[in-house]
Amino acid sequence: MAIPVQTALTHRPSWQALQKHSSVMQSVHLRRLFADDTTRGKRFTLEECGLFWDYSKQRITDETVALLLSLAEACGVSAKIDAMFRGDAINSTEQRSVLHVALRAEPGESYVVDGVNVVHNVHAVLDAMTVFCNSIRDGAWLGFTGKPIRSVVNIGIGGSDLGPVMAYEALRHYSRRDLVFRFVSNVDGTDFVEATRDLDPAETLFIISSKTFTTQETMTNAHSARSWMLAASCDEQSIAKHFVAVSTNASEVSKFGIDTANMFGFWDWVGGRYSMDSAIGLSTMLAIGPEHFREMLSGFHAMDVHFRSAPLGSNIPVLHGLLAVWNTNFLGAGSIAVLPYEQYLKRFPAYLQQLTMESNGKRVSLDGESITDYETCPIIWGEPGTNGQHSFYQLIHQGTRVVPCDFLGFFRSLNPLSRHHDLLLANVFAQAEALAFGRTGDEVRADGAAERLVPHRTFDGNRPSSVFLADCLNPRILGSLLALYEHSVFVQGVLWNINSFDQWGVELGKLLAAKIVPELCSESEPSLTHDSSTNSLITKYRSMRRAT
Ligand code: F6P
Repeated sequence: MAIPVQTALTHRPSWQALQKHSSVMQSVHLRRLFADDTTRGKRFTLEECGLFWDYSKQRITDETVALLLSLAEACGVSAKIDAMFRGDAINSTEQRSVLHVALRAEPGESYVVDGVNVVHNVHAVLDAMTVFCNSIRDGAWLGFTGKPIRSVVNIGIGGSDLGPVMAYEALRHYSRRDLVFRFVSNVDGTDFVEATRDLDPAETLFIISSKTFTTQETMTNAHSARSWMLAASCDEQSIAKHFVAVSTNASEVSKFGIDTANMFGFWDWVGGRYSMDSAIGLSTMLAIGPEHFREMLSGFHAMDVHFRSAPLGSNIPVLHGLLAVWNTNFLGAGSIAVLPYEQYLKRFPAYLQQLTMESNGKRVSLDGESITDYETCPIIWGEPGTNGQHSFYQLIHQGTRVVPCDFLGFFRSLNPLSRHHDLLLANVFAQAEALAFGRTGDEVRADGAAERLVPHRTFDGNRPSSVFLADCLNPRILGSLLALYEHSVFVQGVLWNINSFDQWGVELGKLLAAKIVPELCSESEPSLTHDSSTNSLITKYRSMRRAT
């Protein structure tokens, strides 16, 4: 089926209808919407893959949803979903398929790239990872002194770090507590030194995770790890016992000195930020074990099936993406806060930052045109509750900006402790209620507040939020939640007519850093040709470097 040609987004009748509708909605308060429809709190909810989603506190009506759905139809969302699952090269600037959904496909399914059903290869790698992880977890894999591995250090950055560290923290409850896991990403030497200072090289395994195996930060850390290991073992042979690689680049892996027999592969149709369920998840599998890892994949898969098959109007990732567009483009929100009320999800906002902003932080359309008449990706940020409540929630409640919030909560705690969980969940519900309904001046007066304090103690409310609830945080639920956000990001990118799967914006900084490195380190101190600011910063650093 041909994908409809995109015409300028803001000229679409459904966009213009939304604009008109939004000017009416600007003056409609959530208090009124709830008063006018007592069923609202039940109607604007969906449940799928173990996730219950209440989006009734978004500033929407049935008309808003209908208009957003007609915009989605006009932008060809259904056809684009089909194109992704079919393996079309929808990453057009890199001419690549985008098939992270194949990473969690069941063995009998088929996803074809260049005439090859990649699901066979996916399962072959999963099987190899399983054998390897079992040998580490069983203590059969021995280090250079004959001791089993007790510590695992993942070296990677971006998608080769944020997904693994987020998943490790999220699923820590299921992890082997007698194994130590560390994650090194920053090129700042402190990251490596602090991560390894109490580790015994004879019991340490390094996983060098890099899709390209050329990333400056990762390769620098990998070389330091190599030296750290050789300083202890004094034997090149130890590298084979203590280093494995996860990459798409076998030749760079073997140049580094890692036997490609100890390499777990993935493919160019897996974007870095969409790779945590590929071999990039090796540290996750080592921590939680192959069975739990496969449960996580089945959670991803269940959400993929829902996304691919549910009608747009009851499709959670589609509606979630459309609400992000509504809040960004029609209600003027510049950012979205993601607020997990689950300590294990403490790295979830950081992971989502890359997933969302590296995907949709673009100002050029798929046709190469500058986007001048609408905003694209909002800034994503957040912290686990309730810590944020004592920090930035002031702004969310009473600031001048609209910050739509996604609250995440679970019915059951994995660590039940007296009243803690009831208090935690009470805070989720209270925050969403306070944001939506606020507190009027009259209510503040009725509480006996001094008149001069009334404006300060008034909460306007009408601040949009959604609440996700699930039974408890387990590998399957985590997988479904992650797939939901992946697909929501995709839907947003389709509406904004951008390529969500490239990341050219990270290149310039890398290029300039490569030029500046020799200018800082070389004894000859080459003459500088940057702007006056950069030149003087480099000069200052050189003189400090010389002095120390
Ligand atoms: O920051 C750019 C980027 O290419 C990300 O997209 C990617 O996740 C990260 O660098 C790491 O890349 P690699 O896995 O190739 O080392």
